[in-house]
Amino acid sequence: MGILLLKKSRKNAKNSSGYRRKLRHWLRDSQVIKKKGYTVTIAGRHKGRICRAASELGLEYIIADMTDLDSFKEIASQFQNHGLDVLVNNAAMAKFIPLDELSPSDYLLFFNTNFRGPIELIRELLPALKKKCGSITNISSIAVNNGLVNGSLYAATKGALEAATRSLAVELAPKKIRVNAVAPGAIDTPLAAKTGRSKKELLQRRAMLEQIIPLQRYGKPEEVAQVACAQLEATYVTGSVWCVDGGVHIV
Ligand SMILES: NC(=O)c1ccc[n+]([C@@H]2O[C@H](COP(=O)([O-])OP(=O)(O)OC[C@H]3O[C@@H](n4cnc5c(N)ncnc54)[C@H](OP(=O)(O)O)[C@@H]3O)[C@@H](O)[C@H]2O)c1
Repeated sequence: MGILLLKKSRKNAKNSSGYRRKLRHWLRDSQVIKKKGYTVTIAGRHKGRICRAASELGLEYIIADMTDLDSFKEIASQFQNHGLDVLVNNAAMAKFIPLDELSPSDYLLFFNTNFRGPIELIRELLPALKKKCGSITNISSIAVNNGLVNGSLYAATKGALEAATRSLAVELAPKKIRVNAVAPGAIDTPLAAKTGRSKKELLQRRAMLEQIIPLQRYGKPEEVAQVACAQLEATYVTGSVWCVDGGVHIV
């Protein structure tokens, strides 16, 4: 899933790019957003996929790429009149590259996708968020605090996003905008398949992690959605990072 934009104008809330299973879980299993009267708009970079997901789930959609700052203007224009209640910056790239194979373009792509994009999107949506005293949730990762082999750029860009989350929380508090982050651990999503690891490596890693994770299993996408939803409702919380990792951060 990419960016989430939730708008609680009694009739609507917004979400962005995403894959259907997660959205369905978010909307059907937790039912939090619908129950709260949000309308969800999804935004993503692959038109076919995003259209299909939106039509299947009865959502609005916007085409946007985290590395294309111009596409954020289209998102902002959708909210300029009535405002925006919630932005969830969920889009990210996760590719694991050994140090000696890192290229200048890797730095740029990681930085633009995982850090600059989310921050610029917040900036673009600020007027709309101000109107609703909105809430921002940035999706980080436990990789920020746990060592991750070949994951230096991923961890560093997520760490930058967490650091910015705290500073923005202070900066935007006078405008009554809250800024928090969610740090997932090992979650069963398509992300692992995009990391460059082989199928065998992924299976070995999963078996190893399931022995370390106190809850002894991978998390489900909807379990991250539950925590993101809880952040929307936690109106006295800002500048926080909530782990959703089966307890792995405490071992
Ligand atoms: N799964 C985990 O174990 C885990 C652990 C820690 C943190 N996280 C974080 O959780 C969030 C969701 O990840 P996920 O696990 O659900 O994986 P995912 O399904 O791959 O979600 C990542 C989403 O980001 C989108 N994206 C990537 N680059 C983009 C760009 N330039 N513009 C617009 N969208 C872009 C992808 O869209 P495309 O389909 O177009 O590529 C995809 O929909 C990410 O921030 C990730 O870092 C996940």
